[in-house]
Amino acid sequence: MISSKLQKVVNDQITAELWSSQLYLQMSYFLKAQGWDGFAHWLRCHSDEEREHATRMADFLTDRGGKVKLQMINLVPEGWGSVTEVFEHSLSQEKMVSKMIDKIVLHAIEEQDFATENFFRTFVDEQVEEEALFGGVVDRLKAAGENALPFMNAQMGRRKE
Ligand SMILES: [Fe+2]
Ligand SMILES: [Fe+2]
Repeated sequence: MISSKLQKVVNDQITAELWSSQLYLQMSYFLKAQGWDGFAHWLRCHSDEEREHATRMADFLTDRGGKVKLQMINLVPEGWGSVTEVFEHSLSQEKMVSKMIDKIVLHAIEEQDFATENFFRTFVDEQVEEEALFGGVVDRLKAAGENALPFMNAQMGRRKE
């Protein structure tokens, strides 16, 4: 049985994952409206991935005898100055999520809830990948400049899932 304190932070994490999902979906449609179908497709795939993180966490909470409490999802921003700005924003969102995950692991260790610790450690690894993924896109966008946008758009449009 998972403690009520950990249930609260896991439910907050589910909310943060769903907020990320909404944010990336909004970004996807923002870029699609400008004709950047490839970037839009990539962000839509990532939006789905964030939703999947949320449901995986909710399944875990249920398996541990906790109660899933879906919370209100705050509105997400809907305008950015450039493609690079979109991805810089997503990178800062991922960094914020990483800090939240670290805190859950810390709480779990303090409570000696090793099942929760183990489960969320997989998300510590996941966040290393995600920060590298988004950071890599930002780096490439900055290095390549405006002229390379169509090429990157086409490349990112080939993302499978
Ligand atoms: Fe996530
Ligand atoms: Fe993420």
